[in-house]
Amino acid sequence: MNKDPIGMFDSGVGGTSIWKEVRKLLPNEDTIFLADSKNAPYGEKSEAEIQGLSIKNTELLLEKKCKLIIVACNTATTNAIDYLRKTYDVPFIGIEPAIKPAALQSTSKTVGILATKGTLSSSLFHSTSENYAAGIQIIEQEGTGLVPLIEAGKTDSEETRKLLKRYLAPMISANIDYLVLGCTHYPYLVPILKSILPAHVKIIDSGAAVAKQTKAVLEKNNALKREVEKGDSTFYTNNSVQTLSSFLKDSAPTNITYLDF
Ligand code: DGL
Repeated sequence: MNKDPIGMFDSGVGGTSIWKEVRKLLPNEDTIFLADSKNAPYGEKSEAEIQGLSIKNTELLLEKKCKLIIVACNTATTNAIDYLRKTYDVPFIGIEPAIKPAALQSTSKTVGILATKGTLSSSLFHSTSENYAAGIQIIEQEGTGLVPLIEAGKTDSEETRKLLKRYLAPMISANIDYLVLGCTHYPYLVPILKSILPAHVKIIDSGAAVAKQTKAVLEKNNALKREVEKGDSTFYTNNSVQTLSSFLKDSAPTNITYLDF
């Protein structure tokens, strides 16, 4: 039994989609979430820059005594998790695009993936695709511009819809039956995505799998909190508290504070 909090970080508000899955599965755990919105988007940065930001976030979560760290960002996972695991003793859970389940279930043998440039260009993403998607046509699309729109709270704007229509057109022409969301910001685009995609296209992400893996690792390490009352949820942002709050309005009570990190 371990009462220390679970730590999580993302380049901004997107990782709250992962926090919600963890909260659902492990409601008694205390959590600390870092939204590094000041430095978003990570997806346009170099591997070295993404690693530097991941180290900064990890060290802050370790100062706050986190017992496990969830890298709630595909871009940071694919570019930095190997380094983090080699460098720090705490267990890390990462998130990677759900290529494997999509490839296994696709009947049209054509799968779309929307992710950041940083994720799609990483060697970890390439090896996962090669290992799990043999014989499947993968239509890759960089979601350039989407993270800044989501960070500005524009999840339902005409600008966002226009960009998504352009990004999805080649996937729809190629007859995808699965769309993999390879960025933790993108679950907030599901309503628009559904309105653009043909009804039979399924949208999948890895959020629930991350929560399951977190529980399994804590169980294995005998580090669950094992208390009946709800855990505390603390959020730090280095940008707008108001924007972060708007992504958490259905999840109160939460404690959201500005911190310069
Ligand atoms: N949420 C991050 C991810 O999952 C977004 C990266 C970015 O800031 O570009 O990849």
